[in-house]
Amino acid sequence: MVTHGSESYFVIGEGLLGEAVGGRNGGPPDGGAAVAATAASVTAAAASVPPFRFSRMGPSGVGRQLGEPNRKKVGGAMAEPGGGQSHIPAGFTYLGQFLDHDLTFDKTNVMLGANVTPAQLLQARSPSLDLDSLYGAGPGDPESAKFYEADGLHLKRGKSIFPTKNGFDLPRGAGNTAAKKRKAIIPDPRNDENLAVAQTHTAMIRFHNRVVDTQLGSVPPAQKFDKAREIVTKHYQWMIRSDYLPRICQPGVVNDVFNNGRKAFEVGATPTDVPTMPIEFSVAAFRLGHSMVRPHYNWNKNFPSGQGTLPLLFEFSATGGTLGGEARLLTIWVADFRRLYDFGEAGRADLVVSADKFNRAMRIDSLIANPLQHLPPQTVALPNSTPGTDVRRNLAFRNLTRARMVKLATGQQMANFLKSKGVNLTKLTKAQIREGNGGADLASLTQTQRQAVLRDTPLWLYVLREAELNNGRLKGVGARIVAETFHRAIEGSTHSIVRDTTFAPTLGPNSSTFRMVDLLLFAFEGKKTLLNPNG
Ligand code: HEM
Repeated sequence: MVTHGSESYFVIGEGLLGEAVGGRNGGPPDGGAAVAATAASVTAAAASVPPFRFSRMGPSGVGRQLGEPNRKKVGGAMAEPGGGQSHIPAGFTYLGQFLDHDLTFDKTNVMLGANVTPAQLLQARSPSLDLDSLYGAGPGDPESAKFYEADGLHLKRGKSIFPTKNGFDLPRGAGNTAAKKRKAIIPDPRNDENLAVAQTHTAMIRFHNRVVDTQLGSVPPAQKFDKAREIVTKHYQWMIRSDYLPRICQPGVVNDVFNNGRKAFEVGATPTDVPTMPIEFSVAAFRLGHSMVRPHYNWNKNFPSGQGTLPLLFEFSATGGTLGGEARLLTIWVADFRRLYDFGEAGRADLVVSADKFNRAMRIDSLIANPLQHLPPQTVALPNSTPGTDVRRNLAFRNLTRARMVKLATGQQMANFLKSKGVNLTKLTKAQIREGNGGADLASLTQTQRQAVLRDTPLWLYVLREAELNNGRLKGVGARIVAETFHRAIEGSTHSIVRDTTFAPTLGPNSSTFRMVDLLLFAFEGKKTLLNPNG
């Protein structure tokens, strides 16, 4: 089963930190034959390069981890309903998931193994925002050619059915079993884990194809693909830096990191050196996205008023579900992007839906939506018979347990660490951690348990408390970890707007603006009938 978390973490300087939370085992995201072939032929190089290069940004949290009874109670408190909605359009939740997959994608899974050098392996297993999850190893690589049209330029699009519409689903397989027919032909199968992330990937395919169709006029044929990829990647990075990040993090922190440089993470690294991924980001800060997930969506005309429930969004994907038993996505399930993003920001009043149809993400706070308390067993590789009450199905408990597994620094340790690096932040007080602001209620903890949480606060809970005390935006410790990790990943990408300071977007309304709505308008030709084909 494909999920987007790691089961074990290779931390540079420490080795493999692995321990099951239950169920799911590690391994490459795609269990297919290509992977097996790749694995066989890269064995020698692979031995010298770990599966993915994690690092520790701050100190070790050894001796500061919560015991299991306490994690169960805190995990239970964090999975209670409440918190309310944010001002962030709900599409950004799944853009965040798409970004997580891009950051952690190991493209050696879709490369022909014989050609993989140790240097490529190192790069592939390091965080970057190069859209490898969209491009794989490029049309020139025999294993990745299947993601492209015969021209080697356009990415393949998929058909939805009843009625058939081309370009509104992921391209899917042809084989002779239902599962093979459903399987998405995309480099990273995690992007078919739920319908919302799958539709995000579909939009990115369109974005690339439209760049190919409209932006390559005089580019010599041999350079066309690389040029298209560069244009796409740099615009995507611009959107992340100027639109996505300031929505989830205090904008002042994002600006400080991108204008003045990093203070805490890989400071002074040679920009082109391959970055690592701090476990403080993976195991805590960027799991902020879990609190943004809604239990249900006003999905489109056919599934309005919350009828697009989270379990249905899983079902109508091919790795989180079975596409409702079909081989292709049903057209009735194609997204209405107007309900996920606010096109009024781009002055397109004609693409704005009424408030009762629009979906806002849940507030970034210390609460996660109820369905995430009872993850489908297959999502975390537990037997189907695992009861809903089994704590291993609670995502909050899993996140807290994963932190214990890697001896993650506590919130207080990270605050002290960042301050020692010259980051200007105010530590949360014990009263703030105890009370929060309409988030997880720690009342069910015994006094001893509560004292442990207030003294050694799990980093994930700490950054979410910071956010809920800041109107649902990361600040302090959380904002710094997220902004610095993204900055380093963009800096170390093959195409990089951090290194290329002359880049300015050309596909948005002006030379300093390119938001997610601009990306979608460009990809869907600004047309209502494409952004919402169900009418
Ligand atoms: C319906 C939506 C989602 C579900 C069901 C889900 C589920 C999961 C699960 C089961 C794990 C592994 C937990 C473990 O450690 O055992 C995980 C890890 C993770 N999730 Fe999510 N997630 C969702 C959305 C998101 C979003 C929106 C973001 C970010 C914006 C996010 C960020 C992460 C990160 C950073 C990890 C750790 C990845 C790693 O191991 O490096 N997730 N998620």
